[in-house]
Amino acid sequence: MRKTITDLQSMKQKKELIVALTSYDFQIATIIDSVCDFVLVGDSLGNVFQGNETTLNVSIENMIYHGSIVSRAVKESHLCIDMPFMSYQSSTEDALRNAGRIIKATGAESVKLEISFDSLNTINKLSNAGIPVVAHVGLCPQSFNMYGGYKKQGKNKSEQEYIYTLSKEAEINGASILVIEGVPENLANKITKSLKIPTIGIGAGKKCDGQILVTEDLLGLTPSPHPSFVKNYSNLRTTIKKSINSYKNEVKKNKFP
Ligand code: KIV
Repeated sequence: MRKTITDLQSMKQKKELIVALTSYDFQIATIIDSVCDFVLVGDSLGNVFQGNETTLNVSIENMIYHGSIVSRAVKESHLCIDMPFMSYQSSTEDALRNAGRIIKATGAESVKLEISFDSLNTINKLSNAGIPVVAHVGLCPQSFNMYGGYKKQGKNKSEQEYIYTLSKEAEINGASILVIEGVPENLANKITKSLKIPTIGIGAGKKCDGQILVTEDLLGLTPSPHPSFVKNYSNLRTTIKKSINSYKNEVKKNKFP
């Protein structure tokens, strides 16, 4: 059975760290399912799967397509699906309709939104409608054009105050989990300590209640440069290239089949 939001919340109480990874396809999802507590079909699929510079082109249909595929593989982990750019910002009604579509079509347990103070009512309405919300704060990739690139957040006191207050408000308005991206460790620590809901960090130091990475980054499958916080646990690009070259040489020399 899949982990529920309350299973993940009780991990915080038990001081058990949450292991989270992204997936967009069946093969990776079947590998990570039994290892992870939380699988995210991230809109980072716009970068990693579609090869775009940003996540802004990703559509609801893309999320439903990849979400349904990953959902077929996920049996034990919690499954969360990202709401893509402009599927929830325009109005709470749009957010409810689109989140409902994603949950019904994919069978995921929760949706993730990159939030601002404008999103608080939406978090409230979605959670009251029975849709657990994972709220994403700090570096929000859908704000690429506002930042002028992927830039660390919480660099000064006022940015830190903004992210801290927003995180508190997200919890008050019903968010079930908080993803904190690209902020200093001391800020992520302060937020983690002051919230009852779990925090999952990415590029936010080691004081969160869990960590998430893009799976293809940690496997060394995405071409460099990677964000500075990414650790390559293997170098699959090199391994795959070697195998493909061996195949090529054997075909050229008429050794295969
Ligand atoms: O889109 C994504 O994959 C994400 C995670 C990396 C947090 O938002």
